[in-house]
Amino acid sequence: MVIKKVGVIGCGLMGHGIAQVAAQAGFEVIVRESAQEPLDKGLGRIGKSLNKLVEKEKLTREVADASLARLTGTLELADLADCDLVVEAIIEDLAIKSDLYANLGKLCKPETIFATNTSSFPVAEMGAASGRPANMVGLHFFNPVQLMKLVEVVRTPETDEAVYAEAKAFGESVGKVPVAASDTPGFVVNRLLVPYMADAMRMVERGDSTPADVDAGMSLGCGYPMGPFTLTDYVGLDTTLSILEGWHERFPEDPTFVPPQILKDKVAAGKLGRKTGEGFFKWEGDKRA
Ligand SMILES: NC(=O)c1ccc[n+]([C@@H]2O[C@H](COP(=O)([O-])OP(=O)(O)OC[C@H]3O[C@@H](n4cnc5c(N)ncnc54)[C@H](O)[C@@H]3O)[C@@H](O)[C@H]2O)c1
Repeated sequence: MVIKKVGVIGCGLMGHGIAQVAAQAGFEVIVRESAQEPLDKGLGRIGKSLNKLVEKEKLTREVADASLARLTGTLELADLADCDLVVEAIIEDLAIKSDLYANLGKLCKPETIFATNTSSFPVAEMGAASGRPANMVGLHFFNPVQLMKLVEVVRTPETDEAVYAEAKAFGESVGKVPVAASDTPGFVVNRLLVPYMADAMRMVERGDSTPADVDAGMSLGCGYPMGPFTLTDYVGLDTTLSILEGWHERFPEDPTFVPPQILKDKVAAGKLGRKTGEGFFKWEGDKRA
């Protein structure tokens, strides 16, 4: 593997997890945030997560300390210029991401591999923005990164095969199982999952069932850990709507991407799921009321 130094951009929910697993795997990691406050918060989260692993005796104090010692934070994008791999996990906004990739393309060394953690945008568009489409892949991790074993490794038609192989090897080296995916909406998992969630909503809209019955059916009948409505409440109704709207705009002929009215109505009413205390169900913290 040629990857030794890894840059992570964005130290939020996903970025802090990606930085942590990379540092634990022995990579030198530099994390870039847009301001000091989210940087301190993200690095603090990593420290807490490592401490928890030590408390649970899943990690020794020495290994946790060595992982932290391999991690640095910065506000300067230029500090990532000599990274072998840059994993971007900033907010889901294509204009902001494209702008970032244009800057990375100007300042990183020619062989730097660019990997986006986007859930819903075409990886190729960010590759084009960087001016180095052959170096661009998707590395789509799952939340929480420290626990979830999957990473989708996304290739575009322009991705160089050696770059793809390196990205896949990186995924393995941070303890994940890489799954090959094409640069299509939702890659593998969300392409199946999000239309399924929307279909469940349409079933309720037609009056064929209720959210509680659909969830009980899918949990007990299929062995799913949670049904589609509980899952939507976890993901956030606003996030689910924004994914469907983006896909529907790009592929208006696909009926599975049409945002259900019930979803639009709930988002308009501020019922965004667990985070607002109500979505399809009412919530008290992490528990359904
Ligand atoms: N949340 C999930 O379950 C999940 C799962 C898989 C993929 N993703 C994807 O991961 C990415 C990040 O999502 P998240 O949930 O971690 O978001 P988040 O809001 O928790 O974190 C984003 C972070 O990026 C920072 N940021 C914004 N612009 C920046 C810039 N120009 N430079 C550096 N930092 C910048 C913000 O300060 C913030 O801390 C998105 O593309 C999202 O679609 C999210």
